[in-house]
Amino acid sequence: MTGKLPVVAVTAELPGRAVEWLEDRCLVRLNSGVQITSESGLVDFIGPADAALTLIANPVTDRVLAACPNLRVVGNCAVGFDNIDLEAARRRGVWVTNTPDVLTEATADLTWGLILAVTRRLGESERYLRDGCFHGWALDMLLGSAIQGRQLGVVGFGRIGRAVARRAGGFGMSVAYSDVEEPECPDPPAVFMALEDLLSTSHVVTLHTPLNEGTRHLLDEARLRLMPPGAFLVNTARGPLVDEAALVRVLEEGRLGGAGLDVYEHEPAVQPGLLEREDVVLLPHIGSATVETRAAMAELAARNVLAVVSGEEPPTPVVRL
Ligand code: DGY
Repeated sequence: MTGKLPVVAVTAELPGRAVEWLEDRCLVRLNSGVQITSESGLVDFIGPADAALTLIANPVTDRVLAACPNLRVVGNCAVGFDNIDLEAARRRGVWVTNTPDVLTEATADLTWGLILAVTRRLGESERYLRDGCFHGWALDMLLGSAIQGRQLGVVGFGRIGRAVARRAGGFGMSVAYSDVEEPECPDPPAVFMALEDLLSTSHVVTLHTPLNEGTRHLLDEARLRLMPPGAFLVNTARGPLVDEAALVRVLEEGRLGGAGLDVYEHEPAVQPGLLEREDVVLLPHIGSATVETRAAMAELAARNVLAVVSGEEPPTPVVRL
């Protein structure tokens, strides 16, 4: 009986009821050890499994898919899927799924946390106090930059970009956005701009576009230099959207007000030159990190996997067969 159950390789411990749900209907192989970041480690772990529930650190390449011939679905526990070779999955008849929607609000909140942290120097101010430098209120102490009445530039007007834009009214900011397509009635209302125009007119630029070959280094040095003096860059999407070496150069020249980053080009490594800067706020990729959101992501990933192994269409496919 159990021999007929599909085998699901789950590459990390999951919050919520995800593992319980999987165990009701599958044989679950759970990795409770270190994160699997190599192709060979992933092949060894998934082996002959019918399904894999993966994280963004797991490189699901063509080589991995070729070496795991029984795989019918890769359920990524993330909205992003740049760790997976989609073309290879399609070619090999493997469903790929992600976890959209459930993390939109948490990621938009964190983006605003970074916008406020970098424009109001929150990291620097906290370090100042903890270092024993606070000896009383002063008129000119740790002055930040006002955002009210200024333009927020949202690059990528998908679910998360729009959720970030919706919050802008509460802070008195107008919103411009750029995207590959211009919707007829943007919701929330916002002004469509070409990327170059958005960069050269926004006080804060925030990135919400997926990473693919067309968006790698979307913000290269030339585009970073379009930003007005004193403007801020926030990235809670994917590190490689920004040429980080160029960002360090532009920051070192004092051209920008600062940068708030939750993701890194060579994650988990941080670009040399960033850690020592006071005008940069650095977070360890925690955009969706609330207890509720992470449980919802894991449960959606599990529902996707269960659907495919039961012969049904998964709720949130990226590669549809
Ligand atoms: C995602 O979902 O893509 C995040 O980056 C990880 O939570």
